[in-house]
Amino acid sequence: MLSKTPPMGFNTWNTFGRNINEQVIKETADAMVEKGLLDAGYEYLVIDDCWSERERDPETGKIVPDKIKFPNGMKAVSDYVHSKGLKFGMYSCAGTRTCDNYPGSYDHEFLDAQTFAEYGADFLKYDFCFKPVSADGPNLYRRMGMALKACGREILFSACNWGNDDVSKWIRSAGAHMYRSTGDINDSFASMRDISMSQIDNLAYSAPGCFNDIDMLTIGMYGKGNVGSTGCNDTEYKTQFAIWCMFSAPLMLGGDIRTLSDDMLALVKNKNLIRINQDEEGRPAFLANGANSKCKAFAKLLSNNEVAIMFVNIGEDDDSCNFYFEDIGITASSGFGLELTDAFTNESIGVKKEFMRFPVKAHDCAVFIGKLAK
Ligand code: GLA
Repeated sequence: MLSKTPPMGFNTWNTFGRNINEQVIKETADAMVEKGLLDAGYEYLVIDDCWSERERDPETGKIVPDKIKFPNGMKAVSDYVHSKGLKFGMYSCAGTRTCDNYPGSYDHEFLDAQTFAEYGADFLKYDFCFKPVSADGPNLYRRMGMALKACGREILFSACNWGNDDVSKWIRSAGAHMYRSTGDINDSFASMRDISMSQIDNLAYSAPGCFNDIDMLTIGMYGKGNVGSTGCNDTEYKTQFAIWCMFSAPLMLGGDIRTLSDDMLALVKNKNLIRINQDEEGRPAFLANGANSKCKAFAKLLSNNEVAIMFVNIGEDDDSCNFYFEDIGITASSGFGLELTDAFTNESIGVKKEFMRFPVKAHDCAVFIGKLAK
């Protein structure tokens, strides 16, 4: 089964946009291995939009790789990526053109899935631009879902319709393994805050086999690259990673792997956070308190009778977040509480019960892994 846990990898869009080529992909593949990201679980290297010629081959009808960017074709790139132990991802679009106006797969679904299988692709991101008005959005994803099943290769289906058509309700039935539920992220705290918090009510529509994708991470971009905006500081990137992990979101890195700082590398390789994200039960986080406040508490049940707790301050002022243990199901009368270990420092803060208040600076977060204890 694909997507037993949230997919992890790297996608070219946030950093490179149109400026992708064989060299960049090879260097990124090398860096993913050398910097220990593959070992940490980041296995997919996905080429986003702008990889093909502007028109299909008139004779075969196939999409063809840009001859300047990929002079040796896509199979050669895929072979290189595979030789590093990574998996290889491609991109297309459910409409007639991709979002950056390259050929889309509309009415070419089966041929294109076949082409991606010939490349040796393991992943397909499938966008939603240039959809003919007469076409039914959900049906377009069903078509590519079927085409991938017919292509003779196991390919993870990453749907990207930005939350249209109430996507969380039907996308799993179309065969997708992850689905974008929101518009595009940019590299700012406001963007990642609004995108992630918009999905609080949809976190349960995310489970082994198909996960809610709140877009590629911007960690380590500091405002550079293709998606623009002000950039975030390290505290804000820490909060971004914590939210994505707690929300069981796919962890697709978007910053330039070749130049990621040691601090940002350590952040995205944090074993406790990754364990929360990759927990085999894939249970959704839920809001434990703070629905009407900027200081929110989330809980997520983990396997082994553990519970992850995240306090996150999305406000502009330092604050303290709190929750009643009763509200996550641990009654005061039971005598139970949680023995909490800080996911960032690995330090135990002892057993907490009944009520907990925790100071959190503006845009910061705290994450704990708790074991039921008296
Ligand atoms: C859309 C998607 C982005 C990216 C671009 C490429 O905007 O949502 O993630 O794939 O298209 O053009």
